[in-house]
Amino acid sequence: MTEFLMRITFCCTHTKAEPWLAAFRAALPGADISEWAPGAPQAEHAVVWSPPQQFMDEQPALKGIFNTGAGVDALLKLRLPAGATVVRLDDAGMSVQMAEFVCHAIIRHFRELDGYEADVAQGKWSFRKPRSRGDFPVGIMGLGVLGERVARAVAQFEFPVNGWSRSPKAIDGVRGFAGMDQLNDFLVASRFLVCLLPLTPGTQDILNRATLSRLQPGGYVINVARGAHLVDDDLIALLDSGHLAGATLDVFRTEPLPPDHAFWRHPKITVTPHTSARTLREETVAQIAAKMAAVARGEPLARLPGAVDLQKGY
Ligand code: NAP
Ligand code: GLV
Repeated sequence: MTEFLMRITFCCTHTKAEPWLAAFRAALPGADISEWAPGAPQAEHAVVWSPPQQFMDEQPALKGIFNTGAGVDALLKLRLPAGATVVRLDDAGMSVQMAEFVCHAIIRHFRELDGYEADVAQGKWSFRKPRSRGDFPVGIMGLGVLGERVARAVAQFEFPVNGWSRSPKAIDGVRGFAGMDQLNDFLVASRFLVCLLPLTPGTQDILNRATLSRLQPGGYVINVARGAHLVDDDLIALLDSGHLAGATLDVFRTEPLPPDHAFWRHPKITVTPHTSARTLREETVAQIAAKMAAVARGEPLARLPGAVDLQKGY
């Protein structure tokens, strides 16, 4: 345990502050951490999720803004204090959750488990012809902390795996594609498409009629990144035309998904409520506290794992 003085302000919407404050106090004895309220004193570091603009406006002295999630798209829409470094979660127990969620969705579709479940519900003992996993190549968009872990997990099940990222990657068992120049080749080589990109101006709406049409016939879309990656109507059109066989969607343009949204009732769409990789309090507090302790020892914030490049937007 490290003892030093620093002031931390906590502003996470949709979360009860008290258990988090207690966990941070245990991890950083001597640090002064309290829940933010308008007029709160200036802090050195902030722990945030979806804070209001007022929070940023009232905390111009912040050096580190520690996001309790992996995605920083919502945070980067705010005007941030000049000179502050945003640090996002770097795994913190999320990659294993994402790997199990995506593998489950892939296997459920590949093994036709929904069909068996429907048959069993009618008391029907049925067999389907086994399918070849070679006919179901999996394309993973985004090979970062989560995407790489997912790609390795899917490869363990012996599916062919393609990966697409901004910069080239060499991952065992994964055929790598990089940049817009190779996006088409990546898509035509894939039947499952898993989105694990950050939401940035360069990736918004990237799952659209043009890109999804390039997937192999009988394609299956798994969006576990952000709702604004997907053009909802384009997905529905391609499902209804039969080019796509189905989709598992964990994230939506508006969350919670509005009750009248077509995704709720579409027979080829499985909806989950943004739960594929949850923030785990214990792992998150341990990671953020260790980073704050490193900064107190002189480590530059910008060199911490998960430090966000504001130019790139992730
Ligand atoms: P990350 O480590 O930053 O990885 C991002 C990956 O996307 C990198 O491989 C990056 O390429 C690639 N990329 C970014 N922009 C690109 C572009 N324009 N073209 C091609 N590739 C691009 O992020 P992460 O921790 O894996 O998280 C990914 C996202 O998952 C988060 O941003 C968040 O939105 C989402 N998420 C969702 C949940 C959920 O519960 N549904 C939970 C956690 C996170 P380079 O490697 O070349 O930079
Ligand atoms: C969840 O969606 C996250 O970005 O951590």
